Amino acid sequence: MCGIIGYTGKETALPLILGGLERLEYRGYDSAGVALIEGNKLVVEKQVGKIRELVKSLWGKPYKGKTGIGHTRWATHGEPSTENAHPHTDEKEEFAVVHNGIVENYLELRKELQKQGVKFRSATDTEVIAHLIARSYRGDLLDAVLEVVNKLKGAFAFAVITVHEPNRVIGVKQGSPLVVGIGEGENFLASDIPAILPYTRKVITLGDGEIADITPEGVNIYDFEGNPITKDITLVPWDIISAEKSGFKHFMLKEIYEQPKAVGDTIRGLISGEEELPFSLKEFRRILVIACGTSYHAGLIGKFWIEKYSGVPTEVVYASEFRYGDFPVSEEDLILAISQSGETIDTKFAVNYAKEKGAKTLAIVNVVGSSIDRESDYTLHTHAGPEIGVAATKTFTAQLTALYYLASSSHPQREKLTSELMKVPSKIETLLDKSEEIESLAQKFMKKRDFLYLGRYLSYPIALEGALKLKEISYIHAEGYPAGEMKHGPIALIDENMPVVVIAPQDRVYEKTLSNIEEVKTRKGIVISVGFEGDQKLEKLSDYFLKVPPLEEDLTPFLTVVPLQLLAYHIASKLGLDVDQPRNLAKTVTVE
Ligand code: F6R
Repeated sequence: MCGIIGYTGKETALPLILGGLERLEYRGYDSAGVALIEGNKLVVEKQVGKIRELVKSLWGKPYKGKTGIGHTRWATHGEPSTENAHPHTDEKEEFAVVHNGIVENYLELRKELQKQGVKFRSATDTEVIAHLIARSYRGDLLDAVLEVVNKLKGAFAFAVITVHEPNRVIGVKQGSPLVVGIGEGENFLASDIPAILPYTRKVITLGDGEIADITPEGVNIYDFEGNPITKDITLVPWDIISAEKSGFKHFMLKEIYEQPKAVGDTIRGLISGEEELPFSLKEFRRILVIACGTSYHAGLIGKFWIEKYSGVPTEVVYASEFRYGDFPVSEEDLILAISQSGETIDTKFAVNYAKEKGAKTLAIVNVVGSSIDRESDYTLHTHAGPEIGVAATKTFTAQLTALYYLASSSHPQREKLTSELMKVPSKIETLLDKSEEIESLAQKFMKKRDFLYLGRYLSYPIALEGALKLKEISYIHAEGYPAGEMKHGPIALIDENMPVVVIAPQDRVYEKTLSNIEEVKTRKGIVISVGFEGDQKLEKLSDYFLKVPPLEEDLTPFLTVVPLQLLAYHIASKLGLDVDQPRNLAKTVTVE
């Protein structure tokens, strides 16, 4: 995690760097800092807390430098403090480094440097990079970086500047994301595209083991041996509007409302034929779905669809568990990795492991050019646009779209199934238009400390997802459970204070779910149900009823998740919490 940015060009660097950091803040926000070349000096400014604290501390400071780097941190090595905030410098303060990821052998390198008399000022792994580069410098920053990168182990990306070469920024990518932005008389480096979108849409996505050497006049890319590499420049299809809030109070709310478009664009992208897969799911002995968090929940729904439409046994495993388990994987398996960011390290490692074992790998990712996109044999892209809110919403329904499309691709009635899928965007739109009651429900329940979410079959993963949304942004404890399992334990929690959210569309398990609701009511639990509009039986049985438009059984998760996203959003917003950047979290998880 962490966000890094670098700039060298014709403009004053500081405002550009601060703006870029604000757009990268979703990656981490424990502390932030900048380093600028001011004349023949390096200045470094850092603050604990969010970017706004750094911005406040810089008010009135007359920095005019045209080259600089910036960082927003999600702490791994060393607590969030000013000393541990980036940029880090060498002892003479001539070199400054910002870094994302982990240098795994930093303790060894640190000890070696300490033996040589280097005094460390922070507890970070980053500081070793600054000292090493300073010690290797003999008049050319690229040469010094080349000498150092081959000593570092781990997954990381960093950017470095020096007073000795005031119009140059060098960026290194090994495992963590880094893109180069190509401007006119100016060039950029950043962890992610939104940081530089106001200035350019021309980008080069660096691969692992690549170094970008940028000056205002141009960009050169090298491998770790110093050999020049030719890379393609891509034109980013998003514009800055899609990365701004467009009148919504939070990105999360905007992104919930963008779901009809995210699903529609994803269907259009998939049926355009560009991503036609050269195999059928039926060729495989087994499908292993690997993902984390919300993407894992999408995978659980995908499993039902894949097994129903293709008959291929499918397992869904948390990437972090898969990696250290002893899962037998062979050429007869298809590994399906789901990741919005395409950078989640556990998911990425799982893909690499599966490839080593000879399995075919297919990814569903939202970020084009991300590591998992590049490293998988095949990719189905979701077209949700940039998701800035830390809590995943529109990328979840876009992932469901890709999964449904994939699952139905091997079915004889594929076209009929796709036309059913095409009804989803307008149904979500109708649902969003009629969702005002959720805000008043949020008002009633915002003071509760625990919630239980129940569902069966396709609604069980939605119960998990609803509970995850609530806990991650409102800090209220919430548990998702299969409704039929309730009597095996969780039922003991139910009393007159416990809100129980039950997802009960009229599907094959509807009657069973109604019986579970009766069990909750008998124990005086407060039932908030999500069901089909016009379902009077469910409405009567429940204390509160959230309606969704009726839809074919298989597609109900696209709709039932939306009221739960809104409920979580409104509770967190009413509690005055930082919805888009909840504590301790980051949008892209590039640490194990
Ligand atoms: C929850 C959330 C996370 C992510 C998880 C995986 O709202 O956003 O649980 O789903 O970190 O991220 P990706 O999909 O980028 O691999």
